[in-house]
Amino acid sequence: MELLNRYQIKNLELKNKIVLPPMDMYSSDDQGYVKNSHLYHYVSRAIGGVGLIIVEATAITLAGRITDNCLGIWSDEHVNSLKEIVDECHQYGAKVGIQINHAGRKCTATSLGTDKIYAPSPLAFNSSYRLPEELAKTEIQSIIKEFGAAAKRADQAGYDLLEIHGAHGYLISEFLSPLTNKRSDEYGGSLENRTRFLKEVLAEVKKNWTEEKPISLRVSAYDYLPEGMQPEDMVKIINQVKGDIDIVHVSSGGVAEAPIKAFPGYQVPLSEVIKKGCDMPTITVGLITESIQVEEILKNKRADLVAIGRGLFRNPYWVNQVAYDNKIDDHEYPEFYQEAYKLRR
Ligand SMILES: Cc1cc2nc3c(=O)[nH]c(=O)nc-3n(C[C@H](O)[C@H](O)[C@H](O)COP(=O)(O)O)c2cc1C
Repeated sequence: MELLNRYQIKNLELKNKIVLPPMDMYSSDDQGYVKNSHLYHYVSRAIGGVGLIIVEATAITLAGRITDNCLGIWSDEHVNSLKEIVDECHQYGAKVGIQINHAGRKCTATSLGTDKIYAPSPLAFNSSYRLPEELAKTEIQSIIKEFGAAAKRADQAGYDLLEIHGAHGYLISEFLSPLTNKRSDEYGGSLENRTRFLKEVLAEVKKNWTEEKPISLRVSAYDYLPEGMQPEDMVKIINQVKGDIDIVHVSSGGVAEAPIKAFPGYQVPLSEVIKKGCDMPTITVGLITESIQVEEILKNKRADLVAIGRGLFRNPYWVNQVAYDNKIDDHEYPEFYQEAYKLRR
């Protein structure tokens, strides 16, 4: 099966093409450390056969948290805690990435360090969110440094891949989208200016991340509104930064309230647009639950890797189950479960 084939990106070799996308468990406390629940969750998916696990949105600063219960990477003290996930998952052959994030105007945390929230422009997401302050240029520069510091900590913790969260209406995507960026300085206006923050973040990240290890950029390729980001705009943005990233994780929405009609594989066409328009490898995601869907996507080269989110929440052993159902005898089933996978013979 194509989904069980190995995949190499830079120095990272994945044992298969199934990815656990970043999915916030909202299970930490206001200190942002890894809890046992995180370990049980991520390690179960590693035992279940997932090739690449991407740890959830992890905040680069206190005000960069989505909630008070997000994981944090804002201090050196977080390194050992985050390393536990990597070390445990590695034991079962999974490779581990981490998504680093600044929540921008979508910060709903209320504990220490969140008395003010920040965005490119002073516009609230909706009436239940707080009004953000417009970032001054000096504040933009310090957030860029915080992204770099977070990358260094992720590297020190042993992560195999770094994912920059440039999607879903958090800070980077707020700079990219014309719906949320109304600035008149060099960080706003033209598409090139709106890309400047992302470019500077990536430049800082690259200084702090091991050259041989891959960097993924997660994007919202479509805002689902006529005045918002269109997939063709995202192609132009990625083409400006493609020298600094290795793979694009193509998602959509979340930047502004918009009608989204989700159906199985609804984001795959967006992956195709980015893959072709940017000549870059992609990860696709979104209501993909069946191996037959995954095979179709991979064999038609609509994406290079496929992420299964809620499907892997429901069944951490999805990959092993697919191998078993398809009678793949040379699949590496977990040592201690061998007996279960011999039963059909
Ligand atoms: C509970 C939950 C938490 C999520 N957290 C994140 C996150 O931390 N970062 C992110 O980029 N996307 C996040 N997402 C989006 C998922 O990564 C994924 O793109 C989405 O669930 C669609 O894939 P699926 O249909 O396979 O679940 C989250 C989704 C859910 C349901």
